[in-house]
Amino acid sequence: MRIELKTEIPGPRSRALMDQRRAAVARGPFHGTPIFVAKAHGAVIEDVDGNRLLDFASGIAVTNLGHTPEDVVQAVQAQAERFLHTSFNVVPYEGYVTLCERLNRITPGSFAKKAFLANSGAEAVENAVKIARAHTKRQGVVVFDHAFHGRTYLAMSMTSKVGYRQGFAPFVPEVYRTPFPYAYRSPEPDASAWALRAFRELVLHHVGANNVAAVVLELILGEGGFVDAPVPFVQELASFCKEHGIVLIVDEIQTGFGRTGKLFACEHYGVEPDLVTLAKGLGSGLPISAVVGRAEIMDAPVEGAIGGTFGGNPVAIAAALAVLDRFEADGGALLKRIQAVGEQIGARLLAWKERFPIIGDVRGIGPMRAIELVRDPRTREPDKAAAQALAKYCYQHGVVVLGAGTYGNVIRLAPPLTLEDAELDEGLVILEAGLSELGRSA
Ligand SMILES: Cc1ncc(COP(=O)(O)O)c(C=O)c1O
Repeated sequence: MRIELKTEIPGPRSRALMDQRRAAVARGPFHGTPIFVAKAHGAVIEDVDGNRLLDFASGIAVTNLGHTPEDVVQAVQAQAERFLHTSFNVVPYEGYVTLCERLNRITPGSFAKKAFLANSGAEAVENAVKIARAHTKRQGVVVFDHAFHGRTYLAMSMTSKVGYRQGFAPFVPEVYRTPFPYAYRSPEPDASAWALRAFRELVLHHVGANNVAAVVLELILGEGGFVDAPVPFVQELASFCKEHGIVLIVDEIQTGFGRTGKLFACEHYGVEPDLVTLAKGLGSGLPISAVVGRAEIMDAPVEGAIGGTFGGNPVAIAAALAVLDRFEADGGALLKRIQAVGEQIGARLLAWKERFPIIGDVRGIGPMRAIELVRDPRTREPDKAAAQALAKYCYQHGVVVLGAGTYGNVIRLAPPLTLEDAELDEGLVILEAGLSELGRSA
């Protein structure tokens, strides 16, 4: 058993730190749990009161290899002793080039590629759009309902949920939103056909295809609640973009590096986007992101037009290279293990759907799974309060989980992908008890 609770959750030291946080830290940054971490390893977080909790959130789908993996930590330590920073824009270093070479090789697409490194997911998204605009000399950017692309101005303008946008208008112009094929909430039985019709209507008759620089898509909505786009939708979208000279940007920031059981979610869809954005799992906890794609598109911005002081930090690059080593080791054994984890999670969640009428929908791909909670399975009215109560029950009993979804009624599972069977089971037992506790079991 990994979970060990010595105090109530949150314990006294976490509570005291939360008081200090309220006084010293701006209200804006949210926190999904009221505990403060002291240290973390593997799938276990130890808080400042000495409680041990299982982490099914991975710092928002980042620590895919678990906390403090030895190989990553060693690579980081070794690089920290060599040099911390020169700025790639001043005195370049080999690691930046090596990481780009490796990303060019492993990302989907059998064409010549180039890559660019930045610090955060939002920065990758911003730069992907800049690159697409420079290449096409067009302005329009088409995004989808329920999408999340970050919090900087352009990325926020591309993000759907009002909670991330409230009070920040005016937004960046030339961003157009169209329905995501969200099967559970589609007004028509064929979500794919419905969303494609709306997309074509928008692009062909309202924006004009020759004004659209890029379509930016999450194949599986992350913050939007782990909703997977149907394969035909994605394939049709890709051929539409190709036909009209529109750059297809797939945002793999949350889905990348094993989260769906493949290195990239694109591999489930048989599509080769022009550009992909990567972050989160790439650095195993160190801030690093990337845009990777067709060489001729990536080369559109002139020298000095993209970059930044810290982009592609050498210590973060060392972590990323160690992450890639791990995925490539032993003929891809890690991905096979991750797929097995995904199957176990999928089977458990489907069984829960039979038992708990509060679960309206179970979905996702591989280990990237979520449950959507509803007041009544017939009306599908979202039950945000239940999701909040379930997340609270979980951390109070030693499991950290994350909410998600435009209506706040989704619980997503994003454990470290390296967790052991016993750890997975221990965490799922708590979640299951939480669902029973909600008092709605059949
Ligand atoms: C799909 C997707 N794109 C972009 C972002 C933004 O990344 P960051 O928070 O690192 O700016 C996120 C973060 O959750 C994400 O899930």
